[in-house]
Amino acid sequence: MSKSTVLISGAGIGIGKGMAEAFAAADYRVIATDVLADEGAGVVSALAESGADAEFHEMDVTNTDQVNGVIASVEKAYGPITTLVCNAGIAKKIPLTTMTDDQWDLTIDVDLKGMMRMIRAAAPAMRNAKSGSVVCLASIAGTAYGWDEHVPYSAAKAGVSGLVRGVAIELAKDGIRANGIAPGFIRTAQTLDPINSVGEEGLNAVAPSVPLGRIGDPSDIADVAVFLASNKARYITGQTITVDGGVLVGL
Ligand SMILES: NC(=O)c1ccc[n+]([C@@H]2O[C@H](COP(=O)([O-])OP(=O)(O)OC[C@H]3O[C@@H](n4cnc5c(N)ncnc54)[C@H](O)[C@@H]3O)[C@@H](O)[C@H]2O)c1
Repeated sequence: MSKSTVLISGAGIGIGKGMAEAFAAADYRVIATDVLADEGAGVVSALAESGADAEFHEMDVTNTDQVNGVIASVEKAYGPITTLVCNAGIAKKIPLTTMTDDQWDLTIDVDLKGMMRMIRAAAPAMRNAKSGSVVCLASIAGTAYGWDEHVPYSAAKAGVSGLVRGVAIELAKDGIRANGIAPGFIRTAQTLDPINSVGEEGLNAVAPSVPLGRIGDPSDIADVAVFLASNKARYITGQTITVDGGVLVGL
């Protein structure tokens, strides 16, 4: 059987890097993409050194031509993408009353429209293959948790759960599944940013209130993505799975 191919956006750092490592461990061919070329290349060379099949492509999810081009070149080389991981995202602290239209547009463009661009480009070949899966990074801030001064992020992430439902229904007849993961607090550059998120001190303050007693690691999310992409999740589609160490149920 030919090797499965996963394409991951934002794979240079954080959860996306964890995705690249987890899918490589599951014997996928890993196509790591990011706007961070050095970090993405570093992830790929570390994976290649450990014997994995991995390559890096620079891809900005706000650039339709680039997204279409990267996905077409991967399909030309390896056939339809088996699993698409729409992970790239930004989270900016933006008070509502001073927010500009451009600030709103940028977050929606990266966090929601960027995922649509990837799925739109990969879906035709997946459809022809009558198989494939999509995993999108939503957030508890888009499903149940109110995040102060993060209106565009919360709206975009709620949109991701809707995107997943819509894609799941439209592509189900072709054997393609689409699901979301809503992480809680995961230790990455995003959450460690004290201006736009909680920062190191904030994470340390939150950790004891997480029912499972710790802040999440990127691998906690990536392992769920590998499961959702696999045949073990063959009857799951259109869902956004919360992976938060019990934060929401503990409120
Ligand atoms: N860390 C958390 O606690 C947490 C919680 C909920 C949801 N999430 C979501 O998980 C995903 C990954 O988050 P993270 O914490 O690893 O963030 P991060 O900031 O550590 O990494 C984000 C990645 O996205 C990439 N990226 C940003 N803009 C891009 C663009 N225009 N095109 C392509 N790539 C771009 C960055 O270069 C980076 O590689 C995001 O969608 C985020 O919203 C994270």
